[in-house]
Amino acid sequence: MEPKFVEHVLSSNILTYKYDPYNMLYPWLGSGLLTANGEQWTLRRKLITPSFHFRILKDFLHVMNETSTQFMSLLEKEAAACQVLDMQSLVMRNTIDVICETAMGTRVNSIGGQSSAIVTAIDTLCNVIPERGVSVFKRFDVCFKLTPLYAKQQRALTTLRKEFAQIIEKRRALIQTSSYNATPDDDELMDAKRPKMAFLDNLLTAEVQGKPLTFEQIFEEVSTFMFEGHDTTASAITFALYCLAWSPESQQRAFEEQLQLHGHDRQRHSTFDELQNMKYLDLVIKETLRIFPSVPFIFRTAKQATQIEDKFIPQGTTLGIGVLSIGHSPHVFSEPLEFRPERWEAREHTNVNAFDYVPFSAGPRNCIGQKFALLELKVTLSKLLRHFHLKPAPESRQSLAQIFDPQHRPGPQELKLYIPITLKSMTGVPLRLQPRTY
Ligand code: HEM
Repeated sequence: MEPKFVEHVLSSNILTYKYDPYNMLYPWLGSGLLTANGEQWTLRRKLITPSFHFRILKDFLHVMNETSTQFMSLLEKEAAACQVLDMQSLVMRNTIDVICETAMGTRVNSIGGQSSAIVTAIDTLCNVIPERGVSVFKRFDVCFKLTPLYAKQQRALTTLRKEFAQIIEKRRALIQTSSYNATPDDDELMDAKRPKMAFLDNLLTAEVQGKPLTFEQIFEEVSTFMFEGHDTTASAITFALYCLAWSPESQQRAFEEQLQLHGHDRQRHSTFDELQNMKYLDLVIKETLRIFPSVPFIFRTAKQATQIEDKFIPQGTTLGIGVLSIGHSPHVFSEPLEFRPERWEAREHTNVNAFDYVPFSAGPRNCIGQKFALLELKVTLSKLLRHFHLKPAPESRQSLAQIFDPQHRPGPQELKLYIPITLKSMTGVPLRLQPRTY
């Protein structure tokens, strides 16, 4: 967790190799960008980078805005029916809808309570990893293949492949239509009518070394986008809401920023430029990801023996970077378990090391979806702040220090953190949502 070691590993072009524990994702994500190595990773990174271009992000923004409106309707209904809501599971329904539509152009309507074969299969696959991760026996491929969990994984993969094959055919047909190919500088109205670009479209038209991508390559990349893109953002949105609920002054400042931008209009969609100008919300997100990083650990495997500063690292060593511990370091952040977005204003004027805060990783294998994630976080938080006062669950007395103290036993309506893949709470994230009357 020392910034000098973190810097050495993350900025290295040699220590980019990933194996343990990413190998448990191979059956699903294969050589997708997250799990690929070597030459294959270089090719994939080049291939995927244009999918996060400004013009495409603008299409993704349409999806995020529309989904956030449906999400607010769901929350209004839920808040009227229950005093305390589990924001962790509710936010997940929002991010699942966003990721399926931006990845494949398919609406799954998880917010509306619709069940979907794709969502169920993804859920199964996401649950395989933590179950394997805690079992010495199941971590070995040979042993894992003898378990019912393996059979479950294979069934989920078969379903997902079958569903994807159908979606790909429909999407290929859509790409040929003239309305899809409307010029990019159409005015906003036309833009809204034009079918929105999906991540998949870029893959269907792309070539690697002069050849179109195979079904398997497309499957791996769309799966990676969906895997990396929904759980991480759900975790960040949920914990930002938690922090704001427990910090009324920060919530008020964040709300006033929204008031300045949108007046009393709670439904209005934010434009791309407005989202860039939500400066206080930026600080809230930074501070949330410092305390509650969605990805609390990053790993690398040393393919050959190497030296990191004064330490000798034997070949095959797994190096773990504790993103969470880095953000909680008292040597870097005073009173690290205090939620203080303002601390980032002060830091802007000081000479800080870029590697003492790495929620999106850094260096050549940093998060390619960071801009996408920040858009979705801001769209959702902006709408939530305009619709509701966020309040702690009435029975919760837990301080941030207690949340991170492994000895502390949480009481009713309190958090118990765990890391199935991303950072989550086993007990959910209970909060009260009080509709704003302005
Ligand atoms: C708050 C949200 C997010 C956080 C905190 C986050 C964090 C991270 C971190 C720490 C890594 C490095 C992982 C490693 O080296 O093992 C990473 C990589 C990656 N992320 Fe994100 N991520 C977020 C959202 C997203 C989204 C929305 C997408 C896509 C839509 C995405 C796609 C990826 C991909 C493909 C990689 C692998 C990049 C590579 O190895 O070249 N992430 N992310």
